[in-house]
Amino acid sequence: MTRAAAPIEVSVATEATDELARAFARLIPQLSDTAVPPDRNALADIIAAPSNTVLLARDRANGGQIVGTLTLVTFRIPTAVRAWIEDVVVDSSARDRGAAEALTEEAIRIAKLRGARTIDLTSRRSREAARRLYGKVGFAIRDTNVYRYVLPETDKEG
Ligand SMILES: CC(C)(COP(=O)(O)OP(=O)(O)OC[C@H]1O[C@@H](n2cnc3c(N)ncnc32)[C@H](O)[C@@H]1OP(=O)(O)O)[C@@H](O)C(=O)NCCC(=O)NCCS
Repeated sequence: MTRAAAPIEVSVATEATDELARAFARLIPQLSDTAVPPDRNALADIIAAPSNTVLLARDRANGGQIVGTLTLVTFRIPTAVRAWIEDVVVDSSARDRGAAEALTEEAIRIAKLRGARTIDLTSRRSREAARRLYGKVGFAIRDTNVYRYVLPETDKEG
């Protein structure tokens, strides 16, 4: 199947709908074995956060079904406006048709409009498809240390 014959449309999610919740329930397990997909209320919070832009890839050849997502996060710090790309995933039934590339290109365009000078992301070494995708659209491995502090579980009610 050629990409021209199977067009993918990228848009910004503007409201949390049941369709969106169903799409995240399908997509998030394809990204993470442990993450709990956000429900409609959580999606409403995510979409409403001014730093977040949730992008959706829809398959025009399949009734506009949501087949992929990417979340762009932009924020101002003392030295610059920074941007991160997070939670990139395309449904296994719609891969290799340019959806992730289209999502990433749109994220780059929006980050530029918001004044970001750089866009960061992390990706496990084992994610070969992702590694090639990011290289193709112009990301380069940065020579730095990525640190993580894992907070102990806390009782949110307490
Ligand atoms: C990585 C992922 C998002 C790619 O989605 P996709 O829509 O199939 O990717 P695209 O069709 O846009 O491909 C764009 C480029 O990525 C690379 N790529 C995509 N799939 C690939 C694969 N299976 N093997 C090697 N390179 C691949 C290629 O360079 C491709 O360009 P090309 O076809 O011109 O060679 C998808 O495989 C996925 O959701 N994987 C599971 C979750 C994940 O790893 N997310 C990334 C987290 S960092």
